[in-house]
Amino acid sequence: MPVVTIKPSGKTIDVASGTTLLEAVMNAGEVIAHKCEGKAECGSCHISMLEGRKSVSRIAAAENSQLDRLIGIGSKSRLACQTKVGDEDVTIELVVG
Ligand code: FES
Repeated sequence: MPVVTIKPSGKTIDVASGTTLLEAVMNAGEVIAHKCEGKAECGSCHISMLEGRKSVSRIAAAENSQLDRLIGIGSKSRLACQTKVGDEDVTIELVVG
């Protein structure tokens, strides 16, 4: 099972492939905003992919347009609710604000 490591706490959780990063973070007991409940409509679940970026699901149009509206996004930015874990371990960082 892939392992998701969540920074800055360093907490880890084993998840099944196909689990969204939002589910992984919440199941790990971390706090993450998710105002639209995972519909790619709010951008509040913005996270940064530190490792394993290529193993997760690709960015679809809805996520891309939501990311375009956010301030402070970079090449590692993803919406946790839209990003599904693949077969490899990933490390993410929660983005505050
Ligand atoms: S929870 Fe709203 S975009 Fe992810």
